[in-house]
Amino acid sequence: MVTINLDLQKNTVIDSIIERFDFADDSSSTENPKTKEQKIAHFLEKFSEGVLGIADQYRFSNSADLMTLLQGLADNESKGVTYWDYIEVDTLLSLQKTKTNYPDEVIFIAYHQIHELYFKLIIQELEKITCPSKFESFVSADQVQQWQDGLQRVIRYMNKLIGSIDILKYGLSSKEFSKFRKSLLPASGFQTHQFRLIEIMLTPFEYLIKSGIREVTNPADLTLENHFDDIYWRSAVMAAGQPAKILTNFNAKYDRLFTEQLKYFSTCNLYFKYLAASEEFRNKVKGVMIRLEESILMWKIAHLKTVRAHIPIFVKGTGGVHWSEYLEVKNQKIYYFPVFWEGLDTSEKLDKKIKEIEEKYPSKIMQELNEIWEDGQA
Ligand code: HEM
Repeated sequence: MVTINLDLQKNTVIDSIIERFDFADDSSSTENPKTKEQKIAHFLEKFSEGVLGIADQYRFSNSADLMTLLQGLADNESKGVTYWDYIEVDTLLSLQKTKTNYPDEVIFIAYHQIHELYFKLIIQELEKITCPSKFESFVSADQVQQWQDGLQRVIRYMNKLIGSIDILKYGLSSKEFSKFRKSLLPASGFQTHQFRLIEIMLTPFEYLIKSGIREVTNPADLTLENHFDDIYWRSAVMAAGQPAKILTNFNAKYDRLFTEQLKYFSTCNLYFKYLAASEEFRNKVKGVMIRLEESILMWKIAHLKTVRAHIPIFVKGTGGVHWSEYLEVKNQKIYYFPVFWEGLDTSEKLDKKIKEIEEKYPSKIMQELNEIWEDGQA
């Protein structure tokens, strides 16, 4: 016999369940419960019978889990929830609003949306490790597992995106893309703010500054106030001449957010925390940090190779930049964790390292991507 100790006066979950079930009409009951106490006793009796019946399917590791289930049953909002309501299927399916009638435009939009969803999950993982609360820059020894698991999740998400990027080549008609692309200008994946937030969470501001300025400036002078425009993605568009709409629109919408986030993560971005951790800690998470950085750079490599399938190399991107130069990882020289890139001071060494990263990825994907690059526009 299990004794359940409930404070009947205070238990709003039970109250709410009682209100929602008409126990008085239960004809199978020998004695119709009248008072609140009788109703509760009756409910518990029925409930325990029910629980025993489904005990194999529902195992609660603690009482909080059981209360969550009860809360769910009692809550008006969630009672009778359906798949389509919970997942918001109708809303989700209404979000692919094309600007033309080319069917492949739906693929283009949906695939970008898939990226944004993965980016959201990545940000959620990074948030747990980087800044769960402000100024929390110190890492304790017992967080090794959390780092390994969390960063492994991020790598897994990035790898899913890398592994699916051939959708852009084989699942998207270049002919249709070249037609509907004109109606999208000046929008570009360049403007995904979540990708930029991921970068801000990975590394301090100074390592997002474009190569050329970063190396010759005293690190203490690389302040947000003086060098905001030198962030690599901003300066690439600015250098192309009059700041193109791709950047001015983007700045107008996100400058404030980026400035806030750059400040917020300045002392708790992943690299900062990694460097501040003990040597023992660093040794344990070094492998996963390297793979994390490689997965993001690999996404950049895969993306660049597929852009080639759709935009002729001599046509500038919407930002006015020569995309084939700008998007090259070895030209950008943006390394989120510079300590792993030390000693790569010549372009030969850099080429070799980038080749090594590519070789770690499944050869089928790389082979397809390389063919795309070599064939040029289909
Ligand atoms: C057919 C598909 C695609 C084409 C032709 C394409 C083209 C381009 C081009 C030309 C650029 C350089 C900036 C510009 O001038 O626009 C760029 C940058 C970028 N695109 Fe894409 N893109 C495609 C798909 C995607 C997807 C699915 C995403 C995911 C959100 C994405 C995210 C980005 C990002 C983050 C950048 C900036 C990269 C960096 O700064 O290193 N793109 N893209």
